[in-house]
Amino acid sequence: MEPQVRALCTKHLDSLEGRAEIDAGADYAQFISPGVIATMLGFPEEDEDRFRDFVHLVLDLVDLSPEVRGPMFMPMAEYFDAQIEDHLANPRDDFTSYLLNVEIGGEKLAPEHVRGTMVLTLVAGIDTTWSAIGSAIWHLAQKP
Ligand code: HEM
Repeated sequence: MEPQVRALCTKHLDSLEGRAEIDAGADYAQFISPGVIATMLGFPEEDEDRFRDFVHLVLDLVDLSPEVRGPMFMPMAEYFDAQIEDHLANPRDDFTSYLLNVEIGGEKLAPEHVRGTMVLTLVAGIDTTWSAIGSAIWHLAQKP
């Protein structure tokens, strides 16, 4: 995926041109990871804002009570189910189609297993890497 990732990074850097000051986390890093994971999973690029909300819900709002937090997961579940439906109707070369077709012990994965793996990949892949990118820029800015 290196060419796509480089193109994504360049696009976001270009959009910052001319600004005297940027927040490397909020203005840059937080756009890179969702874009890469969206490509990996085969989700529309324009849905990136939703991915930031999903990560916020799963990780930052963890202290809310289950009664409050539970219903907040519905839009996320519906979003992933719609993506699974779309990939079943239009299989393509991405991780979602791979999960839908892969077999373990001669059996395909149950839809909720596929959905759970997609959610895990999205959250694990986004939160870690945008933190790492932001931390790296912060470090290099102080020790150029
Ligand atoms: C800076 C980057 C990353 C760091 C520091 C990191 C760190 C970790 C750590 C510490 C674990 C737990 C391992 C354990 O079970 O003890 C883990 C698990 C996992 N990570 Fe990452 N990760 C990174 C990037 C990613 C990316 C980019 C993806 C996906 C695209 C990913 C997907 C996963 C998944 C799916 C698991 C769970 C594996 C399992 O089922 O046990 N991670 N990661």
